Amino acid sequence: MKVLVTGGCGYIGSHTCVELLEAGYEVVVVDNLCNSKKDVIQQIEEITNKKVIFYQGDVCDYALLNKIFAHHEIAAVLHFAGLKAVGESVSQPLRYYRNNIDSTLTLLEVMIKYNCKNIVFSSSATVYGTPKSLPIKEDFPLSTTNPYGSTKLYIEGILKDLYISDNDWNIAILRYFNPIGAHKSGLIGENPNGIPNNLMPYIIKVATGELDYLNIYGNDYDTPDGTGVRDYIHIVDLAKGHIKALDKVLSGSGIDYYNLGTGKGYSVLELVQTFEKVNNVKVPYQVTSRRPGDIAACYADPSYAYDKLGWKAELGIEEMCRDGYNYVIKNK
Ligand code: NAD
Ligand code: WQD
Repeated sequence: MKVLVTGGCGYIGSHTCVELLEAGYEVVVVDNLCNSKKDVIQQIEEITNKKVIFYQGDVCDYALLNKIFAHHEIAAVLHFAGLKAVGESVSQPLRYYRNNIDSTLTLLEVMIKYNCKNIVFSSSATVYGTPKSLPIKEDFPLSTTNPYGSTKLYIEGILKDLYISDNDWNIAILRYFNPIGAHKSGLIGENPNGIPNNLMPYIIKVATGELDYLNIYGNDYDTPDGTGVRDYIHIVDLAKGHIKALDKVLSGSGIDYYNLGTGKGYSVLELVQTFEKVNNVKVPYQVTSRRPGDIAACYADPSYAYDKLGWKAELGIEEMCRDGYNYVIKNK
């Protein structure tokens, strides 16, 4: 059975391609490589010993999507393609709205044309804004504080309206918490260019000596050690969640929403200390002021995903730290 993976060369998409191929799906990827490299396709093929059909292009390109759906009988789409840098979305809101929303509308229109009504969408825990309590459940109130988050919330709304208009659609909306780590092989992972926005890539660049020290954004939060608490999830666990969601969608599940997290929160300091211990490296840091827009703590109640999809995260924080570093060291 063939599935289309938009943004399949990216961090989460590439790991999901591996799991899809290993689960026996045929994989077609479309990616414009605006935040990834084509080599990823070869790496996925090396890990799985299976072929990927790759189209380099934009999901906003209606003609290209038509061509893909005309050539391949696509049973379902996993829609990862999107821009994801929160800060950049504040300075370039129209670029974010254009890319993330236009690509989704184009994709959905072409899916309707080819009568493919099964989709798994990459949403984010960012749609919970400042949660009213913890852990976060799927029915919590939704809000956003930046254009990136708004694109996710609008797309969730578009998908809901689409489902209301036509109950033949099967839609899984996955709200990811904080994915980190890499595939065990060290062939795929995350290593952004320049100064990273997210904590784990930043820690790794300090550990490799590319950056001098980590800035910890505040140690006066109402958390056990004062630093921010997040639900870090191993990227391979997250990728596996997509296979379960896809199977559910293909069984005719209507629309549903799932938190993909571990249910455990770790502080910035706990992550730094674990990283140092398992990799036997030093991560110098200094505490600076809070980053605007950050919340004190955020972690999932992942029990709905377990009840409905039979999925739960298996890998711990040590494996996340070890595998994330291993990827960067291997590819230096
Ligand atoms: P990523 O940037 O590594 O991957 C996204 C991929 O989409 C890239 O390969 C990029 O080149 C491609 N892309 C972007 N716009 C495109 C377009 N218009 N046409 C074709 N390709 C396009 O990001 P990721 O971390 O793998 O995230 C995947 C999805 O998950 C995104 O939608 C992101 O918003 C969402 N998400 C990510 C996180 C996270 O922390 N990484 C958390 C929650 C949600
Ligand atoms: C984690 C913790 C920081 C960097 C972001 C997006 C969210 C989602 C995942 C896409 C916080 C602290 C960070 C640093 C630090 N992405 N930190 N020094 O903010 O939870 O979520 O990525 O959907 O939408 O907002 O992740 O990794 O940036 O931060 O102290 O250099 O690390 O304050 O407590 P965040 P993060």
